Amino acid sequence: MNIGIFYATNSGGTEMASQMIADHLSSKHTVNVKRIIDTEPNELSSYDVIILGSPSWDYDGKEGQPHDDFWEFKRKMEGKTLEGKKVAIFGLGDSSYKIFTGSVDVMEEWVKQWNGSQIIPSLRIDKFYYQQAENTELIEEWCKQLLAALSQ
Ligand SMILES: Cc1cc2nc3c(=O)[nH]c(=O)nc-3n(C[C@H](O)[C@H](O)[C@H](O)COP(=O)(O)O)c2cc1C
Repeated sequence: MNIGIFYATNSGGTEMASQMIADHLSSKHTVNVKRIIDTEPNELSSYDVIILGSPSWDYDGKEGQPHDDFWEFKRKMEGKTLEGKKVAIFGLGDSSYKIFTGSVDVMEEWVKQWNGSQIIPSLRIDKFYYQQAENTELIEEWCKQLLAALSQ
């Protein structure tokens, strides 16, 4: 299948996690990794599976929100859908914040609004740079789950 991983990042963690996910999935699928800010909604039609990854930040005075670049993408999605697309979501965050990986909750709602179908539970990564061994394992497990869902 053709898989697109679309991400935003401030300090590089989500980019690195996107690449790790791509490395796992590319054993069985064609995978393209791209910044969401450089992505137009009509490009998504060429993918069977869309993976969205965002850290959580403050946005518009609210905590635990997707990165600004995803809000920009949401504006571009107005009037468009993800009908027929398989979708998976991951988020980086830090559990010392009140709303841990809140970006994931927001993006799950968006995917519902866009009529995409989320195929596995979202991945929430805590303290990406500080818990590397656990997070590498977590990412690998999630990718296995995703590969299994895609092989059904
Ligand atoms: C100003 C600021 C606000 C943040 N707010 C949250 C938050 O509300 N919830 C959360 O889980 N993590 C929060 N984080 C943690 C980041 O999401 C986390 O460090 C993430 O790994 C950054 O990913 P990136 O390297 O891709 O930018 C915040 C970090 C900063 C610096």
